[in-house]
Amino acid sequence: MADPGPRSLLYEGLMLPALVHSEQSLRYAQFGFQVRDSDVFSVTYPKSGTTWMQELLTLIHSDGDPRLAQSVPSWERVPWLEQTTAAGFLENRPCPRLISSHLPYGLFPNSFHGSNAKVIYTVRNPKDVCVSLYHYSKMASFLEFQEDFGEFVELFSAGKVLFGSWFQHVRGWLGLRDRLNFLLLTYEEMHQDLRGSVERICRFLGKQLDARALDGVVANASFQAMKQNKMCNYSLVPENIMDQRVSPFLRKGVPGDWKGHFTVAQSQAFDRLYREQMQDVGVRFPWDEA
Ligand code: A3P
Repeated sequence: MADPGPRSLLYEGLMLPALVHSEQSLRYAQFGFQVRDSDVFSVTYPKSGTTWMQELLTLIHSDGDPRLAQSVPSWERVPWLEQTTAAGFLENRPCPRLISSHLPYGLFPNSFHGSNAKVIYTVRNPKDVCVSLYHYSKMASFLEFQEDFGEFVELFSAGKVLFGSWFQHVRGWLGLRDRLNFLLLTYEEMHQDLRGSVERICRFLGKQLDARALDGVVANASFQAMKQNKMCNYSLVPENIMDQRVSPFLRKGVPGDWKGHFTVAQSQAFDRLYREQMQDVGVRFPWDEA
């Protein structure tokens, strides 16, 4: 991408919001950060369920007790590896560290390779990701914004948005799917069966929760509960940075919102691109047609 736009920086060809990233923070993530075997990473392409997984991981590690989730902001509890605040939040944190990242696989820490650290990769229907990102870019003053939705779909399809191409991101991370330290989840299955998804995460993490703790996780990670929790609904962020009157951060929280945004022609063009890019990945997702 030649021109990252005034609110972005370009790192190794990847466009990121300049407000919370720097060349130095990205170099630190890639080369300086020391991964521990006990680390648990939640990796997502933006707008795919990052905040939801931050809440779930916090609640699972708190055995369903919501006090931590309700008293410390989500970005401190499960901080982003690539942001300028990462070293301060993570270096002296006791194990197990819960860490978020939007990085593509190719820019993940060198020290991850060969470690036993766990990765949960959450993926969402890219059309819903595109819609969610469109509304987010409108309310967040630190993101590039394209008012015309059709043109935004073009930019998204071409990977000319923050964190680059959805297709490259997903394809890169899916390469790890046969590894024991990798769990693939979809936003759609979390939405359909949150309790079952929490049980899968717990099995993956080797964490045993009794029925009451599970109830606590599921209740406090519901869309409604999270919308009311100011530690994850981003109401702590000043209005000049995120204007929730334009669009709430926790906006709709459902699969399929793309149907009210894409025209038939936009949808068909996107489907063609999707088939082209994803035909050989060998994974069927809930949104793939039969
Ligand atoms: P929408 O804009 O479609 O509503 P991220 O955290 O990666 O930025 O993703 C944000 C998207 O996840 C938003 O999607 C948000 O509403 C949705 N989301 C967050 N928590 C959720 C929950 N508990 N249940 C369903 N969707 C949730």
